[in-house]
Amino acid sequence: MADPWIEAYTFAVEIAKKAGAEIRKASESEIKISTKSSTVDLVTATDVRVEKIIIGALKEKFGEDVHCFIGEESISKKGACILTDEPTWIIDPVDGTTNFVHGFPFVAVSIAFVVKKELEFGVVYSCFEDKLYKGRKGQGAYCDEESIQVSDNIDINKSVIISEFGTDRTPSKVKKICSTMERILKIPVHGIRGTGTAATNMCMVACGAVEAFFEIGIHCWDVAAGAVIVQEAGGVVCDVDGGPFDLMSRRMMCANHIDIANRVIKEIEIFPSERDDGQ
Ligand code: IPD
Repeated sequence: MADPWIEAYTFAVEIAKKAGAEIRKASESEIKISTKSSTVDLVTATDVRVEKIIIGALKEKFGEDVHCFIGEESISKKGACILTDEPTWIIDPVDGTTNFVHGFPFVAVSIAFVVKKELEFGVVYSCFEDKLYKGRKGQGAYCDEESIQVSDNIDINKSVIISEFGTDRTPSKVKKICSTMERILKIPVHGIRGTGTAATNMCMVACGAVEAFFEIGIHCWDVAAGAVIVQEAGGVVCDVDGGPFDLMSRRMMCANHIDIANRVIKEIEIFPSERDDGQ
């Protein structure tokens, strides 16, 4: 059977590259910053403009009312995001806004497509590195045109794990994050890393540079595209308690192998975070 979403997939790659070029151009001018949920949760005029460009292009291509859209910047103004069975684009125009503001060169455009609540494909464009990661359900994962696979190392003591501190500075949460990092270091693992963009972190798992990445407090637009890419590269995506991955839960663990995921999960001190769908 012909792939019903091939046109959408191809177009997502095209528009992610265009959006990335806009971000690169914008990084050369003065960056205007505002804040969202906290004083360290940054947004720039570029986030808003690039999201408009992406959604505008998708609407023009596929029709105004045919698809639904969950975009980081449009949603943060309106509140909860509801995922229906309709074909839905989930977009983070600038994943790694803090990096963008500071000139730390890991910034990604993340575009995922979901139908009947199932992820169909994901595209992540790391725009300063000029690397395009993509994954289509059942068709593998790629970095540019090269097929990618997760690491085959299942020895936790030889692993590198990614996690992030996020943007919530509630003292009790910061304490749990730091304590979790300490526990993981003491396993011991070879190292803990973080690129400052969840989408790129997931691509690092997908291409075998690290064994796992997890975070509590991320949003669906940070992880939707990366989730398909990791799975298509042979990895696993689940909840930070080992249960099934829930796109709206704001919790995500992905790894090259379930044994690595489960070993890291043993050390995670989970804290509550409000769901993206407000339920
Ligand atoms: C952030 C990045 C970061 C993660 C934060 C996210 P944004 O996304 O993905 O790595 O730690 O939790 O909010 O705000 O730059 O799109």
